[in-house]
Amino acid sequence: MANVLIAGASRGIGLELVRQYAGAGDTVIAGARDLSAAAQLDEFAASADNVRVVQLDIASPESITAASEAVGDQPLDVVMVVGAVLGAMPQMLDNIDLDAWHAAFDANTIGPMLIARAFKENLAASGDGKLMIVSSQLAASTWPMGGMYIYSTTKAAVNKVVQILALDWRKDPITVVVTHPGYVQTDMGGPNADITAEESASGLRNVMASETKEDSGKFYKWNGDIHPW
Ligand SMILES: NC(=O)c1ccc[n+]([C@@H]2O[C@H](COP(=O)([O-])OP(=O)(O)OC[C@H]3O[C@@H](n4cnc5c(N)ncnc54)[C@H](OP(=O)(O)O)[C@@H]3O)[C@@H](O)[C@H]2O)c1
Repeated sequence: MANVLIAGASRGIGLELVRQYAGAGDTVIAGARDLSAAAQLDEFAASADNVRVVQLDIASPESITAASEAVGDQPLDVVMVVGAVLGAMPQMLDNIDLDAWHAAFDANTIGPMLIARAFKENLAASGDGKLMIVSSQLAASTWPMGGMYIYSTTKAAVNKVVQILALDWRKDPITVVVTHPGYVQTDMGGPNADITAEESASGLRNVMASETKEDSGKFYKWNGDIHPW
């Protein structure tokens, strides 16, 4: 059984990943930024003896350090950074909210890198640690969509973070990948999206299970296909 950490676990795909890993018998550390507003996660954790909830604000370096201290030197087989923000809408050229852009850069780009750094030794201690950062197809240079300056650029930047991590960690026993989780029926994707959170989380878990060190630095779709950069 694996030790799993999910960052951004209060709802949506992150919560579903917690449910599925815990249901499979793995030990799960579920990070949520606001423990007083994570009712669905609390309810699930109360019914499962293999889920521990920790405060983890991806946009806060101090919170990431505190969460790392709370986890201690426990080996982690799987770390998934799932939480992210869209940024203030709309995001057209004439009405960009610059403060929201900076805040999204903290949550979507810098935070995932700091989480990677904070839990690197835990992943290495596993002997075969796997890190996944959930990004988006909007990060891809091949994705033909205008607008969405805040979300698209912060996700494109975190894709580059993953590529660099894979190079910097090439001699460490850690595989790092970035994924597009699908167009998913969550608060972010809305009810008319293509797939359910259950389908997305199941696909992402399959990607995690099948990847090897040779796959480090790759960009995947939720169904295991390679995503064009
Ligand atoms: N849904 C889609 O169609 C879609 C498509 C492409 C990519 N994605 C990506 O998939 C991932 C999951 O999205 P989702 O659809 O599950 O979104 P969601 O339902 O809107 O949930 C967003 C999650 O991110 C968390 N979060 C946001 N900022 C955070 C922070 N600073 N620290 C910790 N947690 C934070 C939220 O926590 P709170 O409850 O505290 O707000 C919530 O748990 C994201 O990376 C998103 O960009 C989603």
